[in-house]
Amino acid sequence: MFIEQRTRRWPGARISGDGFVKEGALLLPTMTTTSAPHDFIAPQSTDSRSPCPALNALANHGYLPRDGKNINLFQLIGALRRAYGISLPLASILSAGAIYLCGHGTKLDLAGLQKHDVIEHDGSLVHRDLNETGGTEAPFPDSELIDAIIKSSDGHVVTLENLIQHKQIRESRVNINSLADYPNGLLAHFSRGEPVLVVAVMGESNTGISVERARTWLGEERLPEGFVPRQTTGLLGLRSGTNRLITEVDALHAQIASERRNE
Ligand code: HEM
Repeated sequence: MFIEQRTRRWPGARISGDGFVKEGALLLPTMTTTSAPHDFIAPQSTDSRSPCPALNALANHGYLPRDGKNINLFQLIGALRRAYGISLPLASILSAGAIYLCGHGTKLDLAGLQKHDVIEHDGSLVHRDLNETGGTEAPFPDSELIDAIIKSSDGHVVTLENLIQHKQIRESRVNINSLADYPNGLLAHFSRGEPVLVVAVMGESNTGISVERARTWLGEERLPEGFVPRQTTGLLGLRSGTNRLITEVDALHAQIASERRNE
């Protein structure tokens, strides 16, 4: 147990492009809390955060440095494995890729992942895209987008099918109507792989993720109480899931385009 003094980010605060809370930010008063090493602590105004709910949650729970800065390869791999049950090969590829593409030297600040069209991409599930924010990156999730996902569910479980429909809607807003419309294959695979990760890593079953968990993890970037990954998520599973999603999102785009032509 240790004592921490933190200033919490108010949910309505405006975020600047570097991922730190700046203009218009309303900060709650500094609080003194007693917490265990992996308790949730909301980020401070100077902490670095990314557009990835999974990595932000790891920093919010102290699996990664809580300030989100100067993360090395071994910290990143270790956190992905411990907290989410990601296999060693997959954790290594994701972590090395992130530091190589978005890091500084051998380290990564989470805000570095905001670089547009490097790993971050348009057609995001729960983050506003650049054309919606007027050019400012949005490193924190948007409650309306999360509500839209939950509204499309049966009120209990957000299924992969719900996420496929939401992805199609988000992509069509930015004129992505097939995989080929992404700037490159890497971005396309990242984008279409993210819904697969939601269900594989955070879902209570292969069917989907509970509404409650979707709100906590995607919306608050907070791990569910007592969370233990139910399986190991590896490269092969992610690849086959992503391939399925690629096919299904493209089929949905084609179906909707054909319905519009026939109207
Ligand atoms: C080193 C590992 C990882 C890196 C570098 C990374 C990086 C990123 C980045 C840059 C984005 C933003 C994409 C966008 O523009 O929407 C993102 C989104 C996302 N990531 Fe990660 N990620 C990692 C691991 C994970 C893991 C393990 C999970 C699942 C447990 C995950 C789940 C997601 C989800 C669901 C999104 C979509 C957010 C949205 O579309 O609004 N990521 N990730």
